[in-house]
Amino acid sequence: MKSANAGFLREVGIIMRRNSPVAEDLVKKARSLCTASRLEHIMGVERLAVELSRLHGEDEEKASLAALGHDIFRDLPGGELLRLAALYDLEPCALELKQPVLLHGKVAASHIRVEYGIDGDIFESIYWHVSGYRSLSRLAKILMVADMGEETRQFTQADEIRKLAKGDLEKSFLNVIRLKIQWSLNSEKCLLPETVLAWNYCIGGADYVSD
Ligand SMILES: [Fe+2]
Ligand SMILES: [Fe+2]
Repeated sequence: MKSANAGFLREVGIIMRRNSPVAEDLVKKARSLCTASRLEHIMGVERLAVELSRLHGEDEEKASLAALGHDIFRDLPGGELLRLAALYDLEPCALELKQPVLLHGKVAASHIRVEYGIDGDIFESIYWHVSGYRSLSRLAKILMVADMGEETRQFTQADEIRKLAKGDLEKSFLNVIRLKIQWSLNSEKCLLPETVLAWNYCIGGADYVSD
């Protein structure tokens, strides 16, 4: 049942891409710029993001584009990410300057806006997918959940994130932000301030109130 569903979603993804030159182009870019395992991840994110969009009333084609574009620059060297950030007039914070990989979402979002004129919630989803942010669109939450919970992810929490998201997207998103914070704390790595904003907004904002 599970594999039949995955097969169906793979077909849906392929059909949508055939109808979208932008999607086709993003897949080409991912193929040329990303490692094989990253490409697998991107396709996994697309499958789950499309499935979650279907379940939660989001636009499946937008979810496909956001997923296909989110990590196209993830495997670029830091110097290249900094060069592209300057090209797109981004102003990296101190943490991003120290760890340019953190810029891959912002650079990818800027690229798709310039290259394809894509803006709005697809832009926002890709732009903030690394850190999260306060008050995000449903599409952005779907992308972040799919990014953490897609089926090729190896860590134990991925399964739970994926399953929970099918019934309760908001709760699963909160768990994604929780996990990002826990990883930073456990590995004594820096925590992006936008991730803290996302957490505070989720637990105290109007978007979701836990009971
Ligand atoms: Fe990413
Ligand atoms: Fe990703």
